[in-house]
Amino acid sequence: MIDYLRHHLGAKLLLSYLAIILVGVVTLILASQFVLPVTFNHHMLGMGTMNGMMGGQTAGNSGVMSTLYTDFRASFNEALIYAALAATIVAVALSIYLSRSVIAPVHAMSIATQNIADGHYDKRVQIQGEDELAQLATRFNQMAAKLDQVESMRQRLIGDVSHELRTPLTAIKGSMEGLMDGVLPADHETFFQIHAEADRLNRLVDDLQELSRVEAHAYELDLRPVDVSLMVKTVAKRLTPQFESKHIALNLDVEPGLSPAFADEDRAVQVLTNLTGNALQYTPENGKVTISARQINNEILISVHDTGVGIPAEHLQHVFDRFYRVDKSRSRRAGGGSGIGLTIARALVEAQGGKLQVESPGSDMGSTFTFTMKKAP
Ligand SMILES: Nc1ncnc2c1ncn2[C@@H]1O[C@H](COP(=O)(O)OP(=O)(O)OP(=O)(O)O)[C@@H](O)[C@H]1O
Ligand SMILES: [Mg+2]
Repeated sequence: MIDYLRHHLGAKLLLSYLAIILVGVVTLILASQFVLPVTFNHHMLGMGTMNGMMGGQTAGNSGVMSTLYTDFRASFNEALIYAALAATIVAVALSIYLSRSVIAPVHAMSIATQNIADGHYDKRVQIQGEDELAQLATRFNQMAAKLDQVESMRQRLIGDVSHELRTPLTAIKGSMEGLMDGVLPADHETFFQIHAEADRLNRLVDDLQELSRVEAHAYELDLRPVDVSLMVKTVAKRLTPQFESKHIALNLDVEPGLSPAFADEDRAVQVLTNLTGNALQYTPENGKVTISARQINNEILISVHDTGVGIPAEHLQHVFDRFYRVDKSRSRRAGGGSGIGLTIARALVEAQGGKLQVESPGSDMGSTFTFTMKKAP
């Protein structure tokens, strides 16, 4: 019995109602035992005095009074029994109703929690009403949805990473087997290819490490006023040799008197280098890349525009997705990356309170990547 009570909220509720009724009944019994005779006499005496004043016979009435009291007591006790019965029925009904409306949702949530603990992240609870329990159920469902999302992201990430790792590993293994079997010549080109694939693996692992750091916000932002013009010049100077060797013009167009941005300089440089590097990578020889900076209201906008391969409309919204490449074979042939650069860049921009967006009129019509930073106060 005690064990049943300990495990059932409904039984506890019923018991507490019954306890309240019991206390009420006992109080009434005690009152009828000790208080009722006194108050009855007091009231009857009052009536007797009134009768005396009206010329009645008070002394001969004591027998009638005692019968009256006994009858009154009996009807009082009867009423008490009916009241206690009615209260017990209401208590049972109330506890059944509360069991349905309070305990059933809690029970449903407990089952859903168990399901989630067992790894079934798609389970949800039904929401009824708008009270605190309904709010709890809504929050619970939100939490379950988030867990579901994180879990599917994790699974996708593992799938993507193994796929990305497999490609260079297969190439290295193939080349090594070719070398061992004597099918491939042990010359510079073969070693160069193996080295390039190992290098690709290395970059991929570095990028993944950086991505996980950035996505987990496992770094400190050092926000302070940044001279945007100087930053643009620094990035341009660093990349000039690569632009020259590919015969691509790199132009700067920074609004004069531009206010400083409020940003983490190293991270902003990383983003701009990434975007400019992409522009260089996806623009054929003799193309043109322009880095421009301007201010709109309280924001500093930095754009990297190129006259390169462009991005078809259906790919635009995906280029920031992890491992997304518009043309996988082309980026691989060109010694291209793994499709993580823009994911990292967007996360870094957003961490500083800005936005990174892309525009492109279409294939072979160039593209423009623009990111914003807050103006320094
Ligand atoms: N300036 C650009 N012009 C055309 N396409 C671009 C440009 N920048 C990015 N893209 C497309 O977006 C994809 C994702 O870019 P992202 O920088 O994330 O990856 P990546 O350059 O392929 O590799 P990495 O991780 O080494 O940077 C690229 O593969 C490319 O298809
Ligand atoms: Mg890139």
